[in-house]
Amino acid sequence: MSGIRIRGTGCSLPRQTVTNQDLSRMVETSDEWIYARTGIRERRRCVEESQCELALNAARAALEMAGASPADIGVCLVPTITPDYITPSTACMLQKELGMPEDTVCFDLSAACSGFVFGLHTAQALLAYSRRKYGLIVCSEVLSRITDYTDRGTCILFGDGAGAAVVEYSDRYAPMPSVLGARGDRESLYAPGIGRGEPPVLHMGGTQVFKFAVETVPECIRALLDRAGLTPEDVDQFVFHQANRRILERVMKKMGIPEEKVWMNMEHYGNVSSASTAIALDDAVRAGRLAPGQKALCCAFGGGLTWAGALVELA
Ligand SMILES: CC(C)(COP(=O)(O)OP(=O)(O)OC[C@H]1O[C@@H](n2cnc3c(N)ncnc32)[C@H](O)[C@@H]1OP(=O)(O)O)[C@@H](O)C(=O)NCCC(=O)NCCS
Repeated sequence: MSGIRIRGTGCSLPRQTVTNQDLSRMVETSDEWIYARTGIRERRRCVEESQCELALNAARAALEMAGASPADIGVCLVPTITPDYITPSTACMLQKELGMPEDTVCFDLSAACSGFVFGLHTAQALLAYSRRKYGLIVCSEVLSRITDYTDRGTCILFGDGAGAAVVEYSDRYAPMPSVLGARGDRESLYAPGIGRGEPPVLHMGGTQVFKFAVETVPECIRALLDRAGLTPEDVDQFVFHQANRRILERVMKKMGIPEEKVWMNMEHYGNVSSASTAIALDDAVRAGRLAPGQKALCCAFGGGLTWAGALVELA
């Protein structure tokens, strides 16, 4: 039985910062309200950068940390809900730009904010059938493209950015435990696609999503730890989807997880959908909060409604 470990991580963030004060000039809100309800102070917004450029830069940073070359990549996945093109996939564009071999399995993956963990799970499964033993997961989002800046209930939450990880598949590693789920919910959090006759912007029932998250995330953590035969004390760092500080505080309280074991960066980047968890993991690694041999529990939730958790180890 083989499994994956994380070899390298990276991220890329657009230059422009949008503060809560900036938003308070666009909708009726305030820095105090936003910070108290979400823990967010600012987020990034693409002006000149494309979704593919962000992905490329994050991928390069992760490859560099891993000491891996594009020629080593057997599987390249791009979880995203805001690709530059419907076709070709961003993964195919990365294949060309980075120079990955033609038989690298490249595709985009749609699992909203749970995308990074869906990507880790899928990469582990597909690498079993690949001649090359490295996988590249690149979450890249330009949520500002699908944000309604007249809706104060949503526009305060979202930001743009990309996060990436290079994983190594080996028979030296045990399979990475993961738990994934989806509920087939089209009302709580959705953005209409082409041909729906509506602007393609995010709609959200904030209270429903909040409730869903504070119930589902602890269940997901419990299922994951049970599967791995571990307790929260065995986890070195919890790396959650950075949707909202209050959601994570409820989760910590329910699970008895101390705050110093939870990496949080939503204050600076807001909710970057699939990229949130990947950026948080990269941040935690670069800040020295996760070292080789240590375990991180990644858990995310979002549109679908989906949820996903994985216990990752650093190589
Ligand atoms: C969006 C969210 C911050 C709203 O906070 P909340 O405490 O649930 O607030 P409510 O929606 O109940 O609204 C309370 C009041 O604040 C108002 N309000 C909403 N957004 C506001 C804003 N940006 N600024 C000021 N007031 C605002 C509402 O209009 C409402 O006013 P009313 O009582 O006069 O009707 C919160 O529901 C949330 O974080 N949900 C989860 C969202 C999430 O994580 N989504 C992504 C998942 S991947």
